[in-house]
Amino acid sequence: MKIELESLSDTTLFAEKLWPLLPSRCLIFLEGDLGAGKTTLVRSLLQSAGHQGKVKSPTYTLVEEYDLNAQKIFHFDLYRINDPEELEFMGIRDYMDTDAMCFVEWAERGESLLPPPHFILNLKVYAEKRLLTISHNTHKEIYLNWKNKDLLL
Ligand SMILES: Nc1ncnc2c1ncn2[C@@H]1O[C@H](COP(=O)(O)OP(=O)(O)OP(=O)(O)O)[C@@H](O)[C@H]1O
Ligand SMILES: [Mg+2]
Repeated sequence: MKIELESLSDTTLFAEKLWPLLPSRCLIFLEGDLGAGKTTLVRSLLQSAGHQGKVKSPTYTLVEEYDLNAQKIFHFDLYRINDPEELEFMGIRDYMDTDAMCFVEWAERGESLLPPPHFILNLKVYAEKRLLTISHNTHKEIYLNWKNKDLLL
């Protein structure tokens, strides 16, 4: 499923549609180059969920944690990971094992230490726009259901 996000307001609109369709426990990888819009999309999703405060990039902290109406959300950015072992030290599996939504930027740096994601959101920059491709790894039924619900803008 491919969706064109022509502007930040498209990202906001898309996040408002996607948020209610996400399972309360899921692992989502955000792929794309530096500046592709991964953090921006997670920020929009959190705002759709009613988060009022800041959403800062976890580039330096590795993980930012949110608690919204009893829904736990972890937002990871593994860009600065040099060795997947660093993830063992932070107890990455413990995060993944909790009843939470986990969003992961730069998951490829975590290599085999991460379980396979349920969904992948891939962002590509072209002109001033973003092309978002959604795919599923597991959870095919949910993904197909999304298509029916029309996530297109
Ligand atoms: N749909 C969009 N339309 C226009 N600009 C966008 C869109 N999405 C994001 N941007 C802009 O792209 C820039 C980079 O976004 P962002 O920080 O989310 O990228 P990132 O993929 O998280 O990068 P990094 O890999 O460095 O963490 C920001 O200035 C943001 O406003
Ligand atoms: Mg980012």
